[in-house]
Amino acid sequence: MRILVTGGAGFIGGEIVRGALARGEAVRVLDSWRTDVHAASAALPDGAEGLRGDVRDADALDRALEGVDVVCHQAAKVGLGVDLQDSPDYASSNVVGTAELIAAMARARVGRLVIASSMVVYGEGAYRDAAGARRRPAPRTEADLAAGRFDPRDPASGHPLVPDLVDEDDALDPRNVYALTKLAQEHLAGAWARATGGRAALLRYHNVYGQRMPRDTPYAGVAAIFRSSLAAGEAPRVFEDGAQRRDFVHVTDVASANLAAADRLAALPDGSARAYNIGSGAVTTVGQIAAGLARAMRGPDPIVTGEYRLGDVRHITASSARARAELAWTPRIPLETGLAEFAAAQPAGANP
Ligand code: UD1
Repeated sequence: MRILVTGGAGFIGGEIVRGALARGEAVRVLDSWRTDVHAASAALPDGAEGLRGDVRDADALDRALEGVDVVCHQAAKVGLGVDLQDSPDYASSNVVGTAELIAAMARARVGRLVIASSMVVYGEGAYRDAAGARRRPAPRTEADLAAGRFDPRDPASGHPLVPDLVDEDDALDPRNVYALTKLAQEHLAGAWARATGGRAALLRYHNVYGQRMPRDTPYAGVAAIFRSSLAAGEAPRVFEDGAQRRDFVHVTDVASANLAAADRLAALPDGSARAYNIGSGAVTTVGQIAAGLARAMRGPDPIVTGEYRLGDVRHITASSARARAELAWTPRIPLETGLAEFAAAQPAGANP
């Protein structure tokens, strides 16, 4: 099988490239090597064919898609962004880029697509109230956040709701510009599948971490931010009260999910797009990640600052049961092992 990995020089794309090469696949990369996203010097492993180009460039896509069986679309602008001035770049990179990709795939008659989506499409996670009923709370108000009331509450009783797992059939509720662009990518993939008879897998990644995670950019994930602070001898700064729940999934497990999805697409009905949550299945908190990294790096204890970011969700954890059942995918790296390796690894720079 020949795989095209868009964004294959990046953190997650690069791991998919290495995983696919290890399986003996033919791998082509289309990457813009944008310096605001990852190291301009990010090298491809031996055996991968690299093309420099932007996914918004139709000619670059036409060249990249020649002879390709399946596309893993990872090229995107990630993270929450600095402020609303980032919106046009998110929309252009993620939405226009994917629109160009599906148009080019239709021209080249490539019929299989794996899309990097995100848990952010669900917005605030799922909860249960005191009676056990399932609830999807409204965004937290700034007044509540400023007063340190971080947990979504039952408007009737005022009691905090109890976090639960979201699954793929839960309602989608993107709450920031990035989330909206990820949902748009999913819908574009669906429209492409219906119009061409192609098949798409929409992989909703949880918080991905791993050795080559970018750092020192406003778009870096919290694990990389904590590691950079500790490497500089500073305490990790934990926002809110540190009890916000996430699921940190190792990048090699995310790569294997992409390859499992690429394999299993053939079994989906023509013209379908199917979503899969991709998490480790282990619920953790941001405070636990900070403490674990501080221990592993023998650094200062984390400081819980009470700061908050508007647009952050409080708790988001997913059931990845569908991916395990339908993709025959099993995450292999326990958080403890992954964090120890991550703590020991040399951080990758955002810029050369
Ligand atoms: C992350 C990804 C997003 C992905 C989503 C999937 C990043 C930047 N964001 O969003 O692309 O779609 O997972 O679930 O990789 N925090 C601190 N201290 C800091 C920075 C952040 O405590 O210095 C807290 C935040 O307030 C938040 C948590 O850490 O509660 C996670 O933040 P972040 O790593 O930005 O990830 P998500 O918002 O979960």
